[in-house]
Amino acid sequence: MIDSLNLLVMFILILNCVVALNNGLAKTPPMGWMSWGRYRCNTDCDNYPTECISEDLFKAVADEFISGGYADVGYEYIIIDDCWMENERDYLGKLMPDYRRFPSGIENLSEYIHSYGLKFGMYENYGNVTCEGYPGSKYHIATDVQQFAEWKIDYLKLDGCFTLSKELDYGFPEFSKQLNKTGRPIVFSCSWPYYQEHIFNIMPQYELVKKYCNLWRNYHDISSSWQSIKNTINFYGKNHKRMASYAGSGHWNDPDMLMIGNPGLSVSQCRIQMAMWAILAAPLIMSNDLIHISKETKDILLNREIIAVDQDPLGIQGSMFKDIFGDLKIWTRPLIPVINDYNSYAIAFINMHDKVDRKISVNIYSLGLKSPDGYTIMDLFTGDELRNITPNDVLQINVNPMDIVFYKLIIL
Ligand SMILES: *[C@@H]1O[C@H](CO)[C@@H](O)[C@H](O)[C@H]1NC(C)=O
Ligand SMILES: *[C@@H]1O[C@H](CO)[C@@H](O)[C@H](O)[C@H]1NC(C)=O
Ligand SMILES: *[C@@H]1O[C@H](CO)[C@@H](O)[C@H](O)[C@H]1NC(C)=O
Repeated sequence: MIDSLNLLVMFILILNCVVALNNGLAKTPPMGWMSWGRYRCNTDCDNYPTECISEDLFKAVADEFISGGYADVGYEYIIIDDCWMENERDYLGKLMPDYRRFPSGIENLSEYIHSYGLKFGMYENYGNVTCEGYPGSKYHIATDVQQFAEWKIDYLKLDGCFTLSKELDYGFPEFSKQLNKTGRPIVFSCSWPYYQEHIFNIMPQYELVKKYCNLWRNYHDISSSWQSIKNTINFYGKNHKRMASYAGSGHWNDPDMLMIGNPGLSVSQCRIQMAMWAILAAPLIMSNDLIHISKETKDILLNREIIAVDQDPLGIQGSMFKDIFGDLKIWTRPLIPVINDYNSYAIAFINMHDKVDRKISVNIYSLGLKSPDGYTIMDLFTGDELRNITPNDVLQINVNPMDIVFYKLIIL
């Protein structure tokens, strides 16, 4: 018997061969680090020598990826966001890095990052200037893409500030085609649907986005505040049915950076972000201060079991099963192993209320977990295997205020 989930997976696989970007990249959601969420457009290296957008910052992140154990668990891409450029192009019309902040040049930084076996990414904007006012690519797509390939980048984030709505459907595909022409495999991250839905009020054509991009932003920039993370989670909760079907190997929805380890978030709020991003099959792109991060939040980022949920080879984005009282949310995501057409699952019980704890009893059959042989429950934050359970059993869950219970139910 083939159940409907497996039919769906087969259908998605067949569909992908036809209409998804086929550059062989982002088979699982990309993992890495990007400067924006933490360091924004800080160009003041005199007053903030270790916090400004400079080659020293990215080299320090690369060093920490190795010595801090981030590379060991899968973090790979180190990405420069906006504010790396000179204010003008050179006399040939080429992009130039700010020479005071990147004195050794981009190629040298690229080499430094690659020498560790890591990957290197950059940022541009499809518009005449970037969001922060540096030269944009609007009339320079082919030459800029060529330049990026010469600098040996592995990932390009393309933003959409200062564009007109009708230009987006031309600009993003054109970049994608030019990237392909270079012959260099470059992950393509698009802000395209975000601008459509939230700036221009038009529904994104995700079938088209998927054809040209490996990942794409759906919602506003994230920031280091609970409100921002909560709004993001609620947006995906409201729209999961509409968006989840476009996610899969090679093409992912991107709820934006992991803010874990930054001021403004409690440890339990960091746990919620990590778990939710894993449920959503989201790119795990951190933006934080890796040198001064607390041990507790670092452990969340390095949690191998949760990373394995995020990177699960089925590549199925999870969905919200239930929203109880508006603040207890149950999310599930199908995972390997698959036995006799039944899947394992990740299940998150999230209490968004900051004062009241929430108790719930759920029959796991009602959550879609129907394997007659049952499951082993693993607590994903501790890695402990708790007990075995069958579909008729009832799970009693108690979630502390503003906290999460995150389980993997491994099929027996
Ligand atoms: C480029 O990097 C190498 C080491 O990786 C260094 O020896 C060299 O001086 C750098 N070049 C420039 C122009 O800074
Ligand atoms: C960029 O485009 C915007 C809107 O089209 C325009 O107002 C602005 O003057 C342009 N800036 C430059 C530097 O060309
Ligand atoms: C370019 O596109 C073709 C056709 O989809 C694909 O086979 C090839 O791998 C792509 N090359 C790069 C570098 O993305």
